Amino acid sequence: MSEQIHHKNIELAQMEIMNKRELVKSGSMRQRYHFMPETGWLNDPNGLIFYRGKYHYFYQFNPYDAYWGEMHWGHAVSEDLLHWEYLPVALAPSEPYDSHPEGGCFSGSAVEHEGRLYLVYTGTFHDGNGIVQTQCVAVSEDGVNFHKYEGNPVITAPDGVDAANFRDPKVWKYEDSFYLVCGGKKENRAQALLYRSKDLLHWEFVNVMLESRGEWGTMFECPDFYSIDGKDVLMFSPMGLGERTSVYIVGELDYKTGVFMPEVTGEIDWGFDFYAPQSFLDPQGRRILVAWANGWQWMTWWKDWGPSYQEGWCGFFNLPRQVRLMPNHTLQFVPVEELKMLRNGRRLRYDADVQEEAIDISGGDGVAFESRLVVDLEKTNAERIIMELRSDGVQKTVVTFDLRLGQLTVDRNAADGWSRGRTRSNFSVSGKNTLDIHIFSDQSSIEIFSNHYQVNHSCNIFAPCSQNQNIVYAEGGNAVFSCIESFGIENQGGLID
Ligand code: FRU
Repeated sequence: MSEQIHHKNIELAQMEIMNKRELVKSGSMRQRYHFMPETGWLNDPNGLIFYRGKYHYFYQFNPYDAYWGEMHWGHAVSEDLLHWEYLPVALAPSEPYDSHPEGGCFSGSAVEHEGRLYLVYTGTFHDGNGIVQTQCVAVSEDGVNFHKYEGNPVITAPDGVDAANFRDPKVWKYEDSFYLVCGGKKENRAQALLYRSKDLLHWEFVNVMLESRGEWGTMFECPDFYSIDGKDVLMFSPMGLGERTSVYIVGELDYKTGVFMPEVTGEIDWGFDFYAPQSFLDPQGRRILVAWANGWQWMTWWKDWGPSYQEGWCGFFNLPRQVRLMPNHTLQFVPVEELKMLRNGRRLRYDADVQEEAIDISGGDGVAFESRLVVDLEKTNAERIIMELRSDGVQKTVVTFDLRLGQLTVDRNAADGWSRGRTRSNFSVSGKNTLDIHIFSDQSSIEIFSNHYQVNHSCNIFAPCSQNQNIVYAEGGNAVFSCIESFGIENQGGLID
């Protein structure tokens, strides 16, 4: 019976998508090469996996409106991480444990076992007293149609852990067991809770892998765990840590005790628009990371949910990034190689000596483009390097590299009449000959990477195509760029069809 309800709810969701598809296709703010929903609302990436020859993206999805609502799992596949084909909704609310207007099928992950694709997700409902979250399993033989396990939920909150804050399981295999980490909250402290299983259906609690004593906030949303070059990494989006919304900790997990020992910490992205990143391993052994290009904290600043809402959609993913471990055990987040395939028309300039008079760094039509700049720090004495991006001379996003203070700011207060806020981070130039800057601009976003892909800012803006000037200039001296290279980026037609 409930299997039938599940099918019925998926069909209803598909009808809703069909009805709104054309409206969303004609949207002026839709992304040209970032992954976005076919219609409706998208938040976290879920269940990222390479399975049977294809990359799978699942995502938190509300097909019924372009704002958050009862959560479904949307689904799309790709052979190259660039062009995506939408598949039917994978999970729709259908069971007492995952149906409620304030709940649904919340975030989770995927793993392959005996040829089948398993999704482990958080069922969220309201029992009359409050929200209850449990961990649940759905299985597929073909990677398209999913069957919810009759024994759900497979994990309920341990004693003392707040049932309303127990979510977002990430699963992986180590030796001959599966492990799962999910976020919890106990006495107002965030916890990463570790479980173990042989079959993905029966789980035993191992230990609290990491607990916040305040320094990591009150709840870990979307924890992720993986090993890279002999080190272990725990990542999460902490609640209650202000501007720190996506952090990583490199260290070591002791599988005997279940305790994670932190060594090095860092921020994946300092922008407003990077949240709930999830990683997966691809067939070439790359660790790839994808995040929701948005955030809960500042969204309320928007009037009427912002311009894309008016066009029947809201939310997209950041560009996929490859994680790399540095010798000092910090991490780099490098846009995947595949993106080079989208390049179109190269503009190249060597040894540009830039002062107050600005030079153009646009590629393509100045809206969808990529730009790479290398500052020769030995020949540069400027105090600041300033970029005005997606500008029409009045509205613009201003990026400032303050070389004296070692501070990068991205200011979108004048970006588009909607977006607000200024993000900030620090970079170091001492002992370095160059400063690298890499920019990806799309219709509604700018992603900035610097300092060896360790200082990154993802920033959404909703600027019309008439805002297509992109310039750089220097203040308080000159800035010598040993190289400025720009490309247009081909329109992927919203990535579908
Ligand atoms: C993170 C999050 C998750 C939750 C999901 C609900 O953005 O709040 O913790 O599972 O979104 O859509």
